[in-house]
Amino acid sequence: MGKLSKYQAPSLKDARKRINKETNHIYYEIKDEYIGLGNGKTYLLKTYGCQGNLADSEKISGLLEAMGYTKARSDEDSDVIIFNTCAIRENAENRVFGELGRIKSLKKKRPGMIMALCGCMAQEEGIVEEIKKKYHQVDIVFGTHNIHMLPEYIASIYKRPSRIIDVYSFEGDIIENLPQLHDHPKKAWVNIMYGCDEFCTYCIVPYTRGKERSRLPKDIIKEVEDLVSKGYIEITLLGQNVNAYGKDFVDTKYTFSNLLEDLSKTGIERIRFTTSHPRDLDDSTIEVMGKYPNIMPHLHLPVQSGSNKILKKMNRKYTKEEYLEKIEKLRKSVPGISITTDIIVAFPGEEEQDFEETLDLVRKVGFEGAYTFIYSPRVGTPAATYPNPLTEDEKKSRLLKLNDLINEGFYEGNKRFEGEVVKVLVDGPSDKDPSMLTGYTPHEKVVNFPGDISLVGKIVDVKISKAYSWHLRGEILEQSK
Ligand code: SAH
Ligand code: SF4
Ligand code: F3S
Repeated sequence: MGKLSKYQAPSLKDARKRINKETNHIYYEIKDEYIGLGNGKTYLLKTYGCQGNLADSEKISGLLEAMGYTKARSDEDSDVIIFNTCAIRENAENRVFGELGRIKSLKKKRPGMIMALCGCMAQEEGIVEEIKKKYHQVDIVFGTHNIHMLPEYIASIYKRPSRIIDVYSFEGDIIENLPQLHDHPKKAWVNIMYGCDEFCTYCIVPYTRGKERSRLPKDIIKEVEDLVSKGYIEITLLGQNVNAYGKDFVDTKYTFSNLLEDLSKTGIERIRFTTSHPRDLDDSTIEVMGKYPNIMPHLHLPVQSGSNKILKKMNRKYTKEEYLEKIEKLRKSVPGISITTDIIVAFPGEEEQDFEETLDLVRKVGFEGAYTFIYSPRVGTPAATYPNPLTEDEKKSRLLKLNDLINEGFYEGNKRFEGEVVKVLVDGPSDKDPSMLTGYTPHEKVVNFPGDISLVGKIVDVKISKAYSWHLRGEILEQSK
């Protein structure tokens, strides 16, 4: 084992700091000495968590393939295994620890295999301590700020086997030009910003991802123009709070609505974005959404709770009434828009009355889908210290009750398309029934229909024959594109 001294371990205290240093935009170029190191070798990447992690994994794949690695078929025959992890709830972390245990023995069978762990768990002090003590099979731990260092870590291990733990707990830079291997031939994630400064009291993300910092408009627009020229049809703009885009620019005023408008003019056929924050979603964004047909009529707008008391304790900075007002504006600007959300139940201090308020809000908005969670305490966040007298049974029963209501909304949202003709971007054969194709409508509804595999990657007109809770069933009308 080599010495760890040239590397850094994560620090929660540092991760919390915001001194507002100016963001460095670093334009990456892989060094010649790393190219070829992976020739004849394979890698496997296991990704957990949000779209931010999926996009990061595409960059990790891009780097590894630039080094010469190719994708492995299974755990057993890979030379590098990387876990890109999520820290949002305890169960996300437990899954990773379970997997690490399961693959421990692989290293005995395949000496020289490198195991690495990155992503949000790597940014957590306590987790890294646990890995150091108990998970000796992990060779490299790197964080969300230093993905671009991976080739260097691997090269260093090939030169001299040692364990590398290198995690930065600082506000964060922006690394441009990382090679990215898109998972989908027609749909691409496009990061527009990194980090989060909201500090919702339950959430670990501001600690694991650093400060809110925006990519420059020119870099984003160029990326999207390149995607268009390569035949991509859909982009999803990514950020933990996309509506805060541009707020960190020092001498320019350029906001999310400006970006959205400029991107709508690039010729990309479908634009989506996630995640929006109800406080920062402004009128000009709502207006732009209604103006350009290539901005899709779906918005994921996490509300978290319908109780003003709980929203305040969560530090969400809006009220139930303000949320409802934004929904009304959205429905006016984008008729027929589909709205989905995230909700946490059993946050510390949530009483029956508060939970009822959440149910009431769900009924009023008519969400067409939601991710719902039982609150999970995260070490280092303020809410982890709040008393929570609810029993596990009470927490679960709230979740079940909420899910029943959400599922009704899901079904109603699908039902409104029965008999309609919708444009579906075909993803591929359906998992459940390979004789069927599956794809998404502008409203982000899943449609299954019989069709030829040659339609994958195209937009087709499908007449909806029947709505189910989780998908629509239809027949193809004609090939529109
Ligand atoms: N930036 C996005 C997404 C954050 S993570 C946003 O602000 O909405 C995705 C969802 O996980 C959150 O919306 C929230 O509902 C949930 N979540 C975050 N921290 C959690 C915690 N400690 N326990 C349970 N759910 C949590
Ligand atoms: Fe977490 Fe809140 Fe930031 Fe979303 S906005 S990532 S919930 S702190
Ligand atoms: Fe998870 Fe980190 Fe995303 S905690 S949800 S992977 S930002």
